[in-house]
Amino acid sequence: MQILDIAPVKYEEDKMLILDQTQLPGETVYLEMNTKEDVRDAIYKLKVRGAPAIGVAAGYGLYICARDISAKDYNDFYRQFMDIKNYIASSRPTAVNLFWALNRLEVRVREFENHTIGDQSVQDHKNGKDLQENTENRHLWKNTQIMIKTAILEEAENIRIEDEDACRAMGEYGLTLLRPGMGILTHCNAGTIATAKYGTCLAPLYIGHEKGYGFKVFADETRPLLQGARLTAWELNNAGIDTTLICDNMASIVMKNGWVDAVVVGCDRMAANGDGANKIGTSGLAILAHEYGIPFYMFVPTSTIDMNTKNGDDIHIELRDGDEIYKLWYEKPMAPEGIKTYNPAFDVTAAKYITAVVTEKGILYPPYEESIRKLFEQR
Ligand code: MRU
Repeated sequence: MQILDIAPVKYEEDKMLILDQTQLPGETVYLEMNTKEDVRDAIYKLKVRGAPAIGVAAGYGLYICARDISAKDYNDFYRQFMDIKNYIASSRPTAVNLFWALNRLEVRVREFENHTIGDQSVQDHKNGKDLQENTENRHLWKNTQIMIKTAILEEAENIRIEDEDACRAMGEYGLTLLRPGMGILTHCNAGTIATAKYGTCLAPLYIGHEKGYGFKVFADETRPLLQGARLTAWELNNAGIDTTLICDNMASIVMKNGWVDAVVVGCDRMAANGDGANKIGTSGLAILAHEYGIPFYMFVPTSTIDMNTKNGDDIHIELRDGDEIYKLWYEKPMAPEGIKTYNPAFDVTAAKYITAVVTEKGILYPPYEESIRKLFEQR
């Protein structure tokens, strides 16, 4: 598959590296992550972004911090681990993959919760047990600590590998919904740099391109952080896919002109009823697509489905600094200093506007409450 071989997150030679997406498309720069502050800042500032890539970054990020923990026993380890976990979790609230990945690592740590050897050795020492036994216990705890850290890294690797496989599978399923020569509109960036590899909704475009489908893609610029212009247009252009950049407010005219046969988007959190939060502007596109009779496909790995969220109203929508709207991209501020702003990073597309949900386990159709429930029951 002709695709940019550029990972958003790398872990190699004991180093965690993040592709700084704020510098794209101009510069391809990898930043080394060394502290929990580095990791939180990279996620908060969208140096790494896109729900699955945030999950991968959270996994490795928590590992590189946890590997420096030196604890006297399991409880001490767990407390320090949870401090780091909660700190990284405070970076962004909407994409569920962040919490999902961090929780997976916590589960691995908790597998060791009966290993209270460290505690025991302190207790035994107080009770006057012999020195040799205490030294052995301390040695055992040291080994257990190494085992916990190995398990954390293993889980971080699993998250990355599973996401790559999921994206590939979504690409294959998604392609069955598309036909050669189709005009396709996409919003934000749900491509290879938003995931471990391939992307979610861009994966079928890469696979189709390889098969000579000749798609004509319209990429919304995606205000205010321009993920469509800076990232999607860059990715697709590099892959040689016919791509036309449009401003967000041009979607209606390209649909009316008959140039769009399908809309494909990613997702940051899908509720149990099929309502899906994605980049701000997505819900408007879905309503437009409905009006023009164009199928609207949301690509959602099961890691992005949150069965604990009943419907879209329960999804926490991130609010960001107003400077992103009127200052960030301009030489001079494009609105009066101090103007009131409202800058939600996501909106929720109601399930009724989603023609199909593409997951790595197959394609779901309405009623989503039922199809999602069945999918999770199978698992
Ligand atoms: O604010 P971002 O850039 O992290 O938002 C990303 C999106 O909304 C993507 O569409 C979504 O995460 C799916 S990525 C495969």
